[in-house]
This record gives sequence, structure tokens and C-alpha cells, in this order.
Amino acid sequence: MSAATTTQPAVRFDHVTKDFGGGVLGLDEITVDFAAGAITVLLGLSGSGKSTMLRHINGLHRATKGDVTVLGRDVSMLSGRALRSLRRDIGVIFQSFNLIGPMSVLENVCTGQLGSLKGPRLSLMMYPRSVRREAMDKLERVGLANRAYQRADTLSGGQQQRVAIARALMQHPRVLLADEPVASLDPVSARDVMSLLKEISAEHQLTVISSLHQVQLAIDFADQIVGLRSGRVVLNRSTQGLDAVQASKIYDDVAGVGTREAAGGGPL
Ligand SMILES: Nc1ncnc2c1ncn2[C@@H]1O[C@H](COP(=O)(O)OP(=O)(O)O)[C@@H](O)[C@H]1O
Ligand SMILES: [Mg+2]
Repeated sequence: MSAATTTQPAVRFDHVTKDFGGGVLGLDEITVDFAAGAITVLLGLSGSGKSTMLRHINGLHRATKGDVTVLGRDVSMLSGRALRSLRRDIGVIFQSFNLIGPMSVLENVCTGQLGSLKGPRLSLMMYPRSVRREAMDKLERVGLANRAYQRADTLSGGQQQRVAIARALMQHPRVLLADEPVASLDPVSARDVMSLLKEISAEHQLTVISSLHQVQLAIDFADQIVGLRSGRVVLNRSTQGLDAVQASKIYDDVAGVGTREAAGGGPL
């Protein structure tokens, strides 16, 4: 157990400010450690800076001030080959799944390997057999092997997100970024996807950093909750031993006291 407390964080923000110009601070002096192998949820209202934080982790945004360190590497120092190498260690899933709709489920999963394969692939048979086999294993893991040859756009939202997770796993990521992964899903599918992320994180010691706007999902599935408001960290706590009073305080901290609409797990 002590190993968990002594290992380096997978991701570290050290006094990170992002100035988008015109007085808009996307991030304002953010200092947070993201523990390796854990699930951390970024919780906040729309516009609070969640996506901006995630984009600093894979180098899509550069900090105006401060340092972002990912897997021991200072992101602001990376470009070209070194940045591509970091990005291979970082899987990403999105609210909108970003699958190629007319393509089969299996082929979508195979595309997760494209970062390490040369040249375009025009059909499933152009992927090496080993890749197809691994893609099938990943589909098995997310419970969708029986859908392998179906068009991706014929699946439900929850199933599509599971395919996107399988695709991300093809690159053997050390960090998985999930930007509102369940925002388009019904409540049951949302919980299924969050449970799957939690299981996979435990199986692979995968660091998961996910934005969410539902407090109850954060409490139920995260190890750590980082609350954001107007680009600032307003909360950073473990979900262990959280009681009802502390849970309700999370709403107040993240939404701002007095703006709480509903207790018990509704959206912020
Ligand atoms: N590329 C950009 N240019 C200018 N402002 C941006 C850009 N991206 C985000 N912002 C601003 O930064 C703030 C945080 O946005 P965002 O990270 O997208 O919030 P969230 O993901 O929590 O909804 C918002 O005020 C948003 O308008
Ligand atoms: Mg966002």
C-alpha cells in the first residue's frame, strides 16, 4: 500500500495558468497532482476549465505560465517526435465517441493501432493478423465481441463508448483522458461506462483522468475529485469515507454556494 503513496504522480500541474487572451483565463494558477493508477474526476460546471486542463496533458494547449509534467516529461519542452511519443502513452475518449460510423466495430478498434503502423489502411484485411486478434480481445474485454462485424453507427451510445475504450486500449496507454465520456448517455449506460473504466484502470494500473458534471458519478467512481470553478481548483479530495454532508458540500464548492439546484446526484 505504501507504494501508492510514494510513487510519482502520473500527471502534475504546477501553478498552471492559461490565458486565452482578452482577459479570459481558462486556467488560473492550477496546482494538482494526479496519482498514477487512480481515477481522478475533474468536476465542474460548463466553462470551468475541464477540457482545457485535459488538453494541456496531451499538449494540445500550452500553459501560459507554470509547468505540466506528464509521465515524468515536461510537456512544454516537447515537440515533434517527443510529443508524438508522449501522445502514444495517452489514450483519449470523447463525449461524442468519435467512431467512424460506416466502418465495422472491429475495424474501428484496429485504428487504435494506427499511431504505430505505417500507411493508411483501407480495409480490415490490411491490418496485420496480430492486430485484428488483439482488437478482438479488446472487444471481448468490453463485452462487444459479438458486435465485431456490425457497423459502428448501429450501436447504442453506451456500446459506442465501450468500442472507443477498446480502441484506446489498443495503444496500451499509461494515461487515459476522458472528456465528458458519459454526457451523451442515459443514466444506466453512464454507470456501465464508468464501471468499465474503473475495472480497466484497476486491471492495467491505468491512470484515468475524466471530466464529469455529475457529482454522484464522481463520488461513486472516482478515487479523487478535483473541483473546478472559473479555471480555479476549488476542491481536491479523496472520495474515501465521504459522508452525506461532505458530499453535499461538493455541490456547494463546485457550483458556488447558494446555486445548488438538486441534492442527490443530478447534474450541476
Ligand atoms: N480555444 C479557446 N479560446 C478562447 N477561450 C477558450 C478556448 N477554450 C476554452 N476557452 C475558455 O476557457 C474556459 C474554460 O473552457 P473549457 O475548458 O472548455 O470548460 P469546460 O470543459 O469545463 O466546459 C471558458 O471560459 C472557455 O470559453
Ligand atoms: Mg469541456
